[in-house]
Amino acid sequence: MKRLDGKVAIITGGATGMGATHAEAFVAEGAQVMLADVRDEDGRRVADALGSAARYSHLDVTNAAAWPDVVASTVEAFGPPTVLVNNAGITAWGSVVEEEVESFRHMLDVNLVGTWLGIKAVAEVMIAAGGGSIVNVSSDAGMRGFGNLSAYVSSKWGVRGLTRSAAVEFGHRGIRVNAVLPGLIDTPMGIESIRGADPAVILAGSPIPRIGRPEEVTAMIVFLASDESSYCTGADFLADGGMLAGTVSAWRD
Ligand code: NAI
Repeated sequence: MKRLDGKVAIITGGATGMGATHAEAFVAEGAQVMLADVRDEDGRRVADALGSAARYSHLDVTNAAAWPDVVASTVEAFGPPTVLVNNAGITAWGSVVEEEVESFRHMLDVNLVGTWLGIKAVAEVMIAAGGGSIVNVSSDAGMRGFGNLSAYVSSKWGVRGLTRSAAVEFGHRGIRVNAVLPGLIDTPMGIESIRGADPAVILAGSPIPRIGRPEEVTAMIVFLASDESSYCTGADFLADGGMLAGTVSAWRD
């Protein structure tokens, strides 16, 4: 018996980075997976490599009209989705003074509205199927502030509020909703976000002073997607090397 046997999952942003790692682990654990992304070539390549238990669908998570099509394709291919991983995301630096409002709005649209649309699109199908698990990817930036990153930080704080609200709204109808907060993780986005800096220097004061591996976040997402987490909902799950716990300081620790 595998940990995700019988689960049907939609994973957004599944074409690259952590989303692709999640998809690989989900299939290895017995799930059937619909990868949804805007990067069609990468998405198809990942799905093809995973065989008959994976498919790829083009989806811009901000497109409200496209979500029901992806849910319908999933139902047709594998049956009703019982897991949704809202993983798709973007980041960009910009000071409050200099950033254009369009850029701020776009960040919220992808990272927060896209997550809301995903929940909206799957909720009724999931309830009819007997319930399920929704995992929303926030960030350590969803629990603190960063200068020149207000759009990303705001979107990821929003994801945590949305997670709690959806957990309250859907808990008694069998859907659990949790947030995962990765720290700095070794993906294209993670590396781009530190703009050429050395991760070892940035993370020197962190309790686990190294960059995280995608599979270290995947392990938590598999747990939340599985029935092992049957009593967990509305919660934040950190995979940040202890970064949010505090900073190691040589004079004291
Ligand atoms: P990535 O950039 O490697 O992958 C993100 C994926 O989302 C890409 O495949 C991209 O095409 C897709 N995507 C972007 N906009 C989309 C849209 N409108 N519709 C559909 N798909 C879209 O990034 P990574 O690192 O794998 O990030 C995954 C999630 O983890 C994101 O939500 C990110 O904010 C979050 N995260 C990442 C951290 C890191 O250090 N890498 C740290 C904390 C959170």
